[in-house]
Amino acid sequence: MYEKELEYPVKTVRAGVWGVSGYTGREVFSLLLKHRGVRVTYVAANNTQGPLPEIFQEFLNRTTLVCRPFSVKKTAKRCDVVFLALPHTQSMAVVPKLLKAGLKVIDLSADYRLKSPEVYEQWYGHKHDDIRNLSKAVYGLPELFRQKIKGAVFVANPGCYPTAAVLGLAPLIATAKDILSIVVDAKSGVSGAGRKAAVEKLFGEVSENFKAYKVLSHQHAPEIEQYCSQLAGRETPIHFVAHLLPITRGILNTMYVHLKEGIALNQLYNLYKKFYKIEPFVRVHPLGSQPEVKSVANTNFCDIGLAVSPDKKMVVITSAIDNLVKGAAGQAVQNMNLMLGFNETEGLL
Ligand SMILES: NC(=O)c1ccc[n+]([C@@H]2O[C@H](COP(=O)([O-])OP(=O)(O)OC[C@H]3O[C@@H](n4cnc5c(N)ncnc54)[C@H](OP(=O)(O)O)[C@@H]3O)[C@@H](O)[C@H]2O)c1
Repeated sequence: MYEKELEYPVKTVRAGVWGVSGYTGREVFSLLLKHRGVRVTYVAANNTQGPLPEIFQEFLNRTTLVCRPFSVKKTAKRCDVVFLALPHTQSMAVVPKLLKAGLKVIDLSADYRLKSPEVYEQWYGHKHDDIRNLSKAVYGLPELFRQKIKGAVFVANPGCYPTAAVLGLAPLIATAKDILSIVVDAKSGVSGAGRKAAVEKLFGEVSENFKAYKVLSHQHAPEIEQYCSQLAGRETPIHFVAHLLPITRGILNTMYVHLKEGIALNQLYNLYKKFYKIEPFVRVHPLGSQPEVKSVANTNFCDIGLAVSPDKKMVVITSAIDNLVKGAAGQAVQNMNLMLGFNETEGLL
């Protein structure tokens, strides 16, 4: 039994975290420890096993849970909701069984974000094995799909870059009819690539360095295009370039939208303020101020900055998030709150 259980006897929902030994799984667990309505009852990983405080020291004296091998049977017995923080292709191998067992599922991988199995195969190099549930998955971006998420049993949590890009572009794309081109110039900290070892993530490679990668060939581009096209009501191509920042967490997207007719800065600002008026986690910066990754680190906020060129035809939108929180675990908990009827901000502010 862990301390929070004693402190908050109101905790009623039982949650499991698959992939708790990874960066996003750890973040989900950490957020759930502070959630007043949820008790984590099951944690599991692939090769990493043992008491959670031995895997991550930050959980010392905060839990006695032991990380075990994955078991659908145990998850079904001990949990009401399960978070999957697994590499893509691994989620779709277990989602059908978890849903069949009656669990609510929130998948942090890319397996159910793209609606077309052909597009998934093209970008992820693997045939989609669970087309049945692909059509059932609700895309977990609350600012756009809140009502659908509320009634969902299965949510596909958005990617980190797509969260920052789609939130930054949505108000303009949903309104402007004269968009000529969109460039998303994206930068992420190293935790975006997960905890598994790789030479390109070594301190000696990343520190005091800055580089582009997967230029115009990043797997998040079709996800951004899918939801921007849905918002615009027509095909909306995106030119997406990712960069690796020498920091641990954080994403800053700078997005260049070329318009035919143009828009005044005040008009743009009012459009964004109105679009995000009721949103607890989207902060539109005052004109002249720009978001920073440091200001959103360890928070579930997406901060947005706006600028327009003198001829009004080039709009520059910046958006900043913490890739592990609003870009992954925080958004997953936000989705769980909506699915289970908790206050949307519970455990996140
Ligand atoms: N990192 C981010 O900023 C971010 C943001 C949004 C979404 N995501 C997505 O969230 C998912 C998890 O990302 P992450 O960054 O947390 O990854 P990670 O740090 O590499 O963790 C991966 C987790 O999955 C387990 N795992 C590894 N190989 C596996 C396999 N073959 N079968 C089953 N489980 C396996 C690992 O267990 P062991 O420790 O036992 O190997 C670990 O618990 C990915 O799909 C990723 O694309 C990540």
